[in-house]
Amino acid sequence: MASFTSPTTFTAIPATTTKRHPNSPFFSTSHHRSKQITTHRTFKISCKASENNEKRPEPEKLTLLDGHNLDRRNLLLGLGAGGLYTTVNLPKVFAAPIKTPDVSTCKDSTTGFTNLKDHIRSNACCPPSSENPIKDYVIPTDAVLRTRPVAHRVTEEYKAKYQKAMAAMRALPDEHPHSFAAQAKIHCAYCNGGYFQDGFPTKELQIHNSWLFYPFHRWYLYFFEKILGTLIDDPTFALPYWNWDNPSGMSMPGFFEGKYLPNADPTVRVPNAAFDAFRNVDHLPPAIVNMDFRNSASGGYTCVQQIGSNLTLMYKQMVANSPNAETFFGGEFRAGDDPIDMQHSTGPIESGVHTAVHAWVGNNRMPNNEDMGNFYSAGWDPLFYTHHANVDRTWKLWKDMQGPDYPDHTEPTDPDWLNASYVFYDENQELVRVYNKDCVQIENLRYEYEPSPLPWLGSRPVGRNKNSNVAENLIGTVKKVEEVKFPVKLDQTVKVLVKRPARNRSKQDKKKAYELLYINDIKLDGEKFVKFDVFVNDLDDGTPSTPTDSEFAGSFSQLAHLHGHKMLMRSGATFGLNELLEDIQAENDEYILVTLVPKEGCEDVTVGEIKVKLATSRSSR
Ligand code: C2O
Repeated sequence: MASFTSPTTFTAIPATTTKRHPNSPFFSTSHHRSKQITTHRTFKISCKASENNEKRPEPEKLTLLDGHNLDRRNLLLGLGAGGLYTTVNLPKVFAAPIKTPDVSTCKDSTTGFTNLKDHIRSNACCPPSSENPIKDYVIPTDAVLRTRPVAHRVTEEYKAKYQKAMAAMRALPDEHPHSFAAQAKIHCAYCNGGYFQDGFPTKELQIHNSWLFYPFHRWYLYFFEKILGTLIDDPTFALPYWNWDNPSGMSMPGFFEGKYLPNADPTVRVPNAAFDAFRNVDHLPPAIVNMDFRNSASGGYTCVQQIGSNLTLMYKQMVANSPNAETFFGGEFRAGDDPIDMQHSTGPIESGVHTAVHAWVGNNRMPNNEDMGNFYSAGWDPLFYTHHANVDRTWKLWKDMQGPDYPDHTEPTDPDWLNASYVFYDENQELVRVYNKDCVQIENLRYEYEPSPLPWLGSRPVGRNKNSNVAENLIGTVKKVEEVKFPVKLDQTVKVLVKRPARNRSKQDKKKAYELLYINDIKLDGEKFVKFDVFVNDLDDGTPSTPTDSEFAGSFSQLAHLHGHKMLMRSGATFGLNELLEDIQAENDEYILVTLVPKEGCEDVTVGEIKVKLATSRSSR
């Protein structure tokens, strides 16, 4: 199936690597539905913790769709009717790229938090200011290639180097632009209202929930890594990546655990520079990450089921729901756009595994799930940078998926994406401006990723119900989308029938235009963790589909943004239907049944539009 230009095999990492890393559970991935991955694996399963729970999750209560009134929701959120969402969306005649902010204008939104004891990171938002003008960054072309290693497989020598670099960074005073505090604050500044957009004094800059997500974080990690290398005078230094897309990397990397480093002499205590006290202690190794994570409940899976679920979620996010740039990178965000009023989708990796891992690592015993579980504090956990290295790697992997199955795995070509820019302190403490267009080739940035097998590529989900006309049989029982009064509230399960624009298309036609399900105009309380699941033709037989079933199209999820003022946000989600409808043999059907199931923080969420559209490689809804 996949033709992949990277060194990619489905064989697992040699078993010897497990010996060096007792914290790294090594699994044989025996999920029954994964096709290619089962054949090469001979490893012991060390899934101990949750083996006795074989139950599927409890069925959700399903209720038929009903129209709801937005005014009531605005009142619930403490806003008057006709508040934030009455603005008319003008055509983008004067579109322009997001411009580099001026660091000296950064305002710290964490100082505006009303209840100080509710959060641990205050004054967390603004990197040190500088009077110096911003220069365009010149990428060193002669730099030595840095290879980012798999965090679970690093050598003792690497660990020592990492400790030395992180300890040096932590030893710098907060006012130093290379200090760990200064680096951590960058994240808050760019996502919790530190900056307003140049020329738009009321519009905050936000690098999440849009096509800025991948390039901004690529540059952020680039400088973080270069600074660490400079601190230890080692230009080969590269960040480790948390290989959560491979069963051998699905627990927290062991060397981030423990307040002190292991030491032969127990009277000498050396702090572990990779440690952060604010993590969920139930999720320390050997717990397996739950990529379908929601804060209030766990999946109830055995470890083997969890791995199978994770691999099919990776497949959905990387393949089925990401056929082109629009879907993979997320919606457009240009100068003057309002980040709390996104008209487009968040990309499936950002909204999916990226958000799930953040929420899963953050300390659920603290009010705002610090550090990783909230945007303003995430940069204070060294694991953030290792998590994001793998997020960054998914961009490279997606781009390397080439061939007839993936004709549109290319970056956006819109000048407003290419020319969007950010400011960072470089490894020489200079304030530099960097552009999206200059980070597209990681070869030019002189780094690469140590190869690791991609078992999710062979983990296409399987349809549970192969009955055609599931939706047609419900006409008269479930409302058609045009009969529904939008927006609808997601305080309960929503079911609706949606007519498809075309059916029985040829293989070639499906590669020219992707059939996509759009959940648009999602309005939510930005201070909460929010998650809902989206199903297609899921039958009401008492056991809802799970991520390993094709009927589970995916999820919308959004990490909490603790903010100085109330944040009512708008966002969107897009799901691929080409493969899904093949899997459930519904390509001939005129209608699909769409079910939205609230999972967390959805009491006040509304959805303004549900539709199916054929999208070409460059089309926008
Ligand atoms: Cu900027 Cu993982 O978030």
